[in-house]
Amino acid sequence: MPDDTQRSPDHGATGAARPALGDRALFPSLELAAYLNHAAISPWSTPVVETITQVTRDFARQGLHALFPWLERRERLREQLARLIGAGAASSVGLTSNTSHGVSTVALCMPWRPGDRVVLFTGEFPANVTPWQRAAELFQLELEFLELAPFHGPGGDGLARLDARLRARPARLVAVSAVQFQSGLRMPLEEIGRICRARGAELFVDAIQACGAVPIDVEAACVDYLSAGGHKWLMGPEGTGFLYARPERARALVPRTASWISHEDPFKFLFEGAGHLDYGRPFKRDARLVEGAAGNTVGLAGLGAAVALLLELGVESIYAHAQRYLDALERELAARGFTSARAREPAARSTILSVSTPAPWTAASMQRRLVARGISCSTPDGLLRFAPHWPNDAARELPLILDAVDALLSEGAGPEQA
Ligand SMILES: Cc1ncc(COP(=O)(O)O)c(C=O)c1O
Repeated sequence: MPDDTQRSPDHGATGAARPALGDRALFPSLELAAYLNHAAISPWSTPVVETITQVTRDFARQGLHALFPWLERRERLREQLARLIGAGAASSVGLTSNTSHGVSTVALCMPWRPGDRVVLFTGEFPANVTPWQRAAELFQLELEFLELAPFHGPGGDGLARLDARLRARPARLVAVSAVQFQSGLRMPLEEIGRICRARGAELFVDAIQACGAVPIDVEAACVDYLSAGGHKWLMGPEGTGFLYARPERARALVPRTASWISHEDPFKFLFEGAGHLDYGRPFKRDARLVEGAAGNTVGLAGLGAAVALLLELGVESIYAHAQRYLDALERELAARGFTSARAREPAARSTILSVSTPAPWTAASMQRRLVARGISCSTPDGLLRFAPHWPNDAARELPLILDAVDALLSEGAGPEQA
């Protein structure tokens, strides 16, 4: 093992300052004055940059021989991710290249029977729809869409509707995002999980808009499968992610997407002499089935450094920190004529605040001008979305955001607004 990979096991290759809520010291190169785009792509912290730099140096010096210590680091990442979502065994976590990789693997590998029903929700991000549509075509499944609207607002009857639907027309699987990408609605996962279990449906969760900033407990929520990409709230690089599969569910998957690393002892024939080239080796019957071939060593090492910071801070604390930030921002934007799409019940809130802009502004026209003033936000499906994470500091950033918004509102409508 190259000795300098051992220097700092969890916080980047060279060791960096400790993370603290509201402190962006670990993001010294970040140019945007207020970065509120963690629901899109997170910037890389110093530990992520240093770890990736270290991998790069190791491979430049040693090629193949650099791989093994970083493979060990990957095993630690598996444990870290299992801890983050309350999964018992690290082997119930497979490392992937994005959310869709996990969704597609389950969609293609479920032991489907023709006519099986899959329940989805309208308004979901397409990564949690397209793979199910493909599976429906390939395996003659029936897709049913439920509305998200009844999950909004106190008194919403979304859970009762889901329960009634599953009672009337049993489904094989329900697929839902833990947090909706546009409105930021945090779905009542534990209640959904209980209903699914009571009605005999498996539960698949797209957790990319939650994992790392909104608490998730796969045991409490009876989650069967969960997939998340690494580049949003986990704060790692793109091209990384993970799939959780409950052990008994993973054992039942048909390894339709398997390749050479999906087998047990996949490396024996490379390193242990002749006689091990056996195409009939059994497949791994857990979430690691998803790791079929050569992995993203650079990206996953970076993800490990990012997740270590999250575990150090604690997801509950990060979530509470973001709520304080968004409470203040929501209040100030409402006072300026914006309409909040954030849930009124605290339990249905995530770390996303999406708003409609006051007429005649559009979200796109305002977002472009905010970014030009150093306020990074985005426009999912027509709303203006603010998504702070642990390094965001309301005391420093709110005045900057509100000054920019006030300046735009007083400049008034320009030709760019339409
Ligand atoms: C809910 C949700 N799922 C999935 C994705 C992305 O999927 P992938 O990681 O496969 O690119 C996004 C955003 O990019 C999202 O908001």
